[in-house]
Amino acid sequence: MATLIRAIPEMQQIAEAARRGGKKIAVVPTMGALHEGHLSLIRIARQHADLVVTTIFVNPMQFGEGEDFQRYPRDLARDTGLASEAGADIIFTPDVSAMYPPGYLTSVTVEVMTGLLEGKSRPTHFRGVTTIVTKLFHCVKPHIAVFGQKDAQQVAVIRRMVSDLDFDIDMIVGPTVREPDGLAMSSRNVYLSPEQRRQAPVLYRSLRLAEAALRDGERGRAEIVRVMQALISSSSSGDIDYISIADAGSLQEVESVAAGQSVLVSLAVRFGTTRLIDNILVKV
Ligand code: PAJ
Repeated sequence: MATLIRAIPEMQQIAEAARRGGKKIAVVPTMGALHEGHLSLIRIARQHADLVVTTIFVNPMQFGEGEDFQRYPRDLARDTGLASEAGADIIFTPDVSAMYPPGYLTSVTVEVMTGLLEGKSRPTHFRGVTTIVTKLFHCVKPHIAVFGQKDAQQVAVIRRMVSDLDFDIDMIVGPTVREPDGLAMSSRNVYLSPEQRRQAPVLYRSLRLAEAALRDGERGRAEIVRVMQALISSSSSGDIDYISIADAGSLQEVESVAAGQSVLVSLAVRFGTTRLIDNILVKV
């Protein structure tokens, strides 16, 4: 069974000792409610490191007003078992009061790209993510950090931060793990009603449609968005928040896809109060 660590100084001492002993440390940051998507990242970390640390911390700073911080699913006993089986040596799960003690004032912000896509509906979200990921890096002192392609913008933003702030950390990105019907695994899928759950795979179907259109030579953003919208509105009650056809590196929207360009097709759709996101990377 993995060792459970709550105290920040203890985590730092273990990390320091591991580094002195020549061990490679990998971190897999999570908010818990672990599913096969998270576990796939722990397995990737296991292949690349001697000490695998999974962090479980539901980070209040990345939730906006009225978002699901309070009701976010929490089950540490279950998560510890699953993470251990997947290969975690340590579960680092600090208390909110230790991460953000009274008097806390500091944040880390990546500009520009954090205001696009998810950032339009969640303007303070990425500031919370980059701040907590920086803090987790300082606690775990990893050589390697593993993230999921499921949160494509998060990957792009953290990559930018790691580069801009000279973190000496290699990033590995694991592919999106899906349910058999194509729905991307997410801790938030448990909020869906049976009817919403039945409709939710339309996100991935719409992404596959966009991919097929791009492969067939369609280059115009408007037409790709139109076919995606048509599919979603004809086969679900989902409310489209955005559909984006963007450059995979800068996340800037493209009107017309250029030859050789890596395009990130991404979307957010609301089913009642549950907001689902998904994406696909297409190299044209
Ligand atoms: P969380 O949503 O718990 O996700 C933790 C990691 O698992 C992220 O890197 C995410 O991209 C990855 N992940 C989630 N679903 C996945 C899936 N279906 N397939 C593959 N990977 C998947 O992302 C966060 O937590 C937080 O923002 C965090 C980085 C921990 C900072 O608080």
